[in-house]
Amino acid sequence: MARKRIVAGNWKMNMTPSEAIKLVEELKPLVQSDSVEVVYCVPAIDIVPVVEAVKGTNVVVGAENMYFEDKGAFTGEISAPMLVDAGVKYVILGHSERRQYFGEDNALLNKKVKKAFEAGLTPILCCGETLEQREMGVTIDFISTQIKEGLYEVSAENVAKMVIAYEPIWAIGTGKTATSDQAEEVCKAIRDVIRVMYNDATAESVRIQYGGSVKGENAAEIFGKPDIDGGLVGGAALKADFGKIVNC
Ligand code: PGA
Repeated sequence: MARKRIVAGNWKMNMTPSEAIKLVEELKPLVQSDSVEVVYCVPAIDIVPVVEAVKGTNVVVGAENMYFEDKGAFTGEISAPMLVDAGVKYVILGHSERRQYFGEDNALLNKKVKKAFEAGLTPILCCGETLEQREMGVTIDFISTQIKEGLYEVSAENVAKMVIAYEPIWAIGTGKTATSDQAEEVCKAIRDVIRVMYNDATAESVRIQYGGSVKGENAAEIFGKPDIDGGLVGGAALKADFGKIVNC
């Protein structure tokens, strides 16, 4: 069965609640699509107003992070049940900025992935290599470990429903996009890791995004590759260009 394409905006730490509503209104006519699932992953404080603002459209809302406990003394954190109750459908986990600035590792992310599924959220699990790793030729090994440890003891049934985002760190926010062949090589390797860990059906069903300086002008070529099912978009998700990416 064909995988439905998914284009997600990662707003990062941008947009106040009132700016968020304006952006949603501006993008509304531009992101309509029957064939692509469109997700806005927004800062925690924007979740409630954005869920309200996208009502009646094809857009669903995602979070950019969550904690793995349901509730309790974890000052400053947000739980999966809170996100679900607010109307969130997806959650980005393990973005390279979370790994780099907030010390998130594969073991922690594995707990978050399991909790997301338990609560009924779909994780978008991020992976990606640094420029040094690419130059050393260890990209595929490094990413395989991120996937294997991140998905430790996660069922095939759940993996089949999830999203994995391949984001080379050297391409994030730098304007340097991986070539479509580089992106396809790694996305195919990720699908093969899933095939080995699980089975063909799971590998063919999991959706794999590319992320890293995706723009209206390069999206069509990247998304045209057989193992790339859409994109995770940072900078360009905050502009009208996002509509071009969705409809490319
Ligand atoms: P970028 O960010 O599109 O601005 O490179 C992508 C991401 O970090 O998800």
